[in-house]
Amino acid sequence: MKVQILGSAAGGGFPQWNCNCDNCSGLRNGTLNAKARTQSSIAVSGNGVDWVLFNASPDIRAQLADFAPMQPARAKRDTAIGAIVLMDSQIDHTTGLLMLREGCPHPVWCTDMVYQDLTSGFPLFNMLEHWNGGLVRQRITVDQPVNRFTIPCAPTLEFIAVPLISSAPPYSPHRNDPHPGDNIGVLIRDLESGRSLFYAPGLGRIEAHLPGMMAEADCLLVDGTLWQEDELIRAGVGDKLGVHMGHLPQSGETGMIAFLDTLEKPRKILIHINNTNPILVEDSAERAQLTAHGIEVAEDGMSLEL
Ligand code: MLT
Ligand code: MN
Ligand code: ZN
Repeated sequence: MKVQILGSAAGGGFPQWNCNCDNCSGLRNGTLNAKARTQSSIAVSGNGVDWVLFNASPDIRAQLADFAPMQPARAKRDTAIGAIVLMDSQIDHTTGLLMLREGCPHPVWCTDMVYQDLTSGFPLFNMLEHWNGGLVRQRITVDQPVNRFTIPCAPTLEFIAVPLISSAPPYSPHRNDPHPGDNIGVLIRDLESGRSLFYAPGLGRIEAHLPGMMAEADCLLVDGTLWQEDELIRAGVGDKLGVHMGHLPQSGETGMIAFLDTLEKPRKILIHINNTNPILVEDSAERAQLTAHGIEVAEDGMSLEL
């Protein structure tokens, strides 16, 4: 299986257009050893021709242009996107669907909770009905700890959705009433190579059903949003803690580094990095700490082969 990191930043991207935190201004004025990043999305393929898009970011147009296999040019109008899977209904993971309107209909796999948000508070499904069949909803169930599904354009891959505790976005009708399926992680297994990727750009808590599955994966591509729980407050750019946003910070005794240290087999890569996070700075002490623990930081354009 081939995995392409189309975007590796959290909502807002890096640098964020209106942000003058140390990272964003340092990148803009060239004083920081760091790379710009677009908002998080990956593409996965079993055969290298047909791709499943995980999340559709507002930056999708540039992301597709930067990865040639996404335009196979077999017809006047063409795309390699055979299916779209949504991990949640957040703006940074869904707005790109609007940009894909010229290619409708698209099959879109999502949970009932995500479908509810995208047919009410942020009615993308309703809007796109006006474009040649729009988004064709395919159901991901999350009533079990492990929920298997298949996608026709990727017959050599199997997909397992796991519910992850999080809160729905501000426009969700159940914003203050969390439900299983507001946010998911997905294990993707290549049935030919036997190798697997666990993808969870929003991972707020190490719930009981996760360590076993993550320990067996060959590669983890997981939440790298924040270094510290109160990072947005410290940077002077917000008032939310990681716990409010459903993002487990890397540092601390119960942080992501400490958990990843308990897993031996998988390659460990962080994705969905917020622009305030010091790990974006390649010569920072925090990045050195990750490296010492064998943890990598995803960047746009990175390719994995599993
Ligand atoms: C999040 O995951 O918390 C989002 O990146 C927030 C956003 O897109 O505004
Ligand atoms: Mn996000
Ligand atoms: Zn910033």
